[in-house]
Amino acid sequence: RVVAVIMVGGPTKGTRFRPLSLNIPKPLFPLAGQPMVHHLISACRRIPNLAQIFLIGFYEEKEFALYVSSISNELRVPVRYLREDKPHGSAGGLYNFRDYIMEDNPSHVVLLNCDVCCSFPLPEMLEAHKGYGGMGTLLVIKVSAEAANQFGELVADPVTNELLHYTEKPETFVSDLINCGVYIFTPNIFTAIEDVFMQRKDRANLRRATSFEALQSAAKALPPDYVRLDQDILSPLAGKKELYTYETLDFWEQIKTPGMSLKCSGLYLSQFRHTSPQLLAAGDDARSATVIGDVYIHPSAKVHPSAKIGPNVSISANARIGAGVRLISCIILDDVEIKENAVVIHAIIGWKSSIGKWSRVQGEGDYNAKLGITILGEAGSVEDEVVVYHCISEQIEAEHGL
Ligand code: GDD
Repeated sequence: RVVAVIMVGGPTKGTRFRPLSLNIPKPLFPLAGQPMVHHLISACRRIPNLAQIFLIGFYEEKEFALYVSSISNELRVPVRYLREDKPHGSAGGLYNFRDYIMEDNPSHVVLLNCDVCCSFPLPEMLEAHKGYGGMGTLLVIKVSAEAANQFGELVADPVTNELLHYTEKPETFVSDLINCGVYIFTPNIFTAIEDVFMQRKDRANLRRATSFEALQSAAKALPPDYVRLDQDILSPLAGKKELYTYETLDFWEQIKTPGMSLKCSGLYLSQFRHTSPQLLAAGDDARSATVIGDVYIHPSAKVHPSAKIGPNVSISANARIGAGVRLISCIILDDVEIKENAVVIHAIIGWKSSIGKWSRVQGEGDYNAKLGITILGEAGSVEDEVVVYHCISEQIEAEHGL
């Protein structure tokens, strides 16, 4: 049997996702009309003999309760949210809940970072992992040499695929092959994490017995129960025939900013063509709007037949899209109203916002840039005949109740 664990992190990690993370935990932000974590859960569902899915994070339990219970019912596989009292690092968080994870005595643990977007070739990875016979297999991808230093860079043996060398976000270039944040482990991973705890304890004891300077450096060190998967586990185990790599040639992106969430929404929409075509708007009868490319429209949204929508547009529940509206590359969240003849391009429109008639809300369209898309936070309001270009509105009034 196999269990899957998705590391969802917590509120302090989501600051680059403002203002959208003010209303909703980042893992629940909708991409292609489904919460970010939903795409990972659907991918886990394709693993043979999957027993359970755990989400581990330090968000309040109540923020995930509704989603976790509805998805468990829908997919008929138990999905549980396990809350850490404080961040323990990506490996420390996993270790903390080892008793829950090992409950069903699984042969393998699939571990996923929540903030990545890819086709998650998990069954294929699991097969490759069994063939390698190591403790863990990492999903890896080639990226441009300029982009690589934002990630874990690694070197793998071209014949055996063994992980030979691993450096997390190095300052000088190591390799254009990077860690995708998707792993398969045998239960031995828990022993490897425990070894790091033990070494830390030994070192702390040694310091106590030595000098004042050593005490000072101990004060700066990470808390003893904080273990990072990349620096503390992958780096030291590289080249020891314990870790192997599986390269994806498909799409892969990391979602740290709202701009990337818009890009990834588009990637998931195009994936729906193969995996869930029923979720894509067809726009093929006279009563529906003109649809261009990949578009998701929630069944409760009302879209005027004279509107023109797409490509890469997703429209959430109860949104109202007026006559003559043009939407290109955008995410329209719940309860938004877009009035007649407004245009929205490269933008995310927050919950309950309203866009006036003949207005234009537009971003530059550079998804990697900090200000590459225009974002309206919750309950933003754009008057009639106004142009909003290149803008991020946090809705400070709404936040402070002014
Ligand atoms: N539950 C929990 N507790 N989750 C955590 C914690 C923690 O204390 N710390 C991080 N996470 C989650 C994050 O939410 C994220 O999903 C994942 O673990 C990794 O986060 P970071 O440790 O902050 O690393 P990163 O995202 O900057 O980079 C990692 O992922 C890249 C791929 O996206 C590294 O593994 C890179 O090497 C890798 O390229």
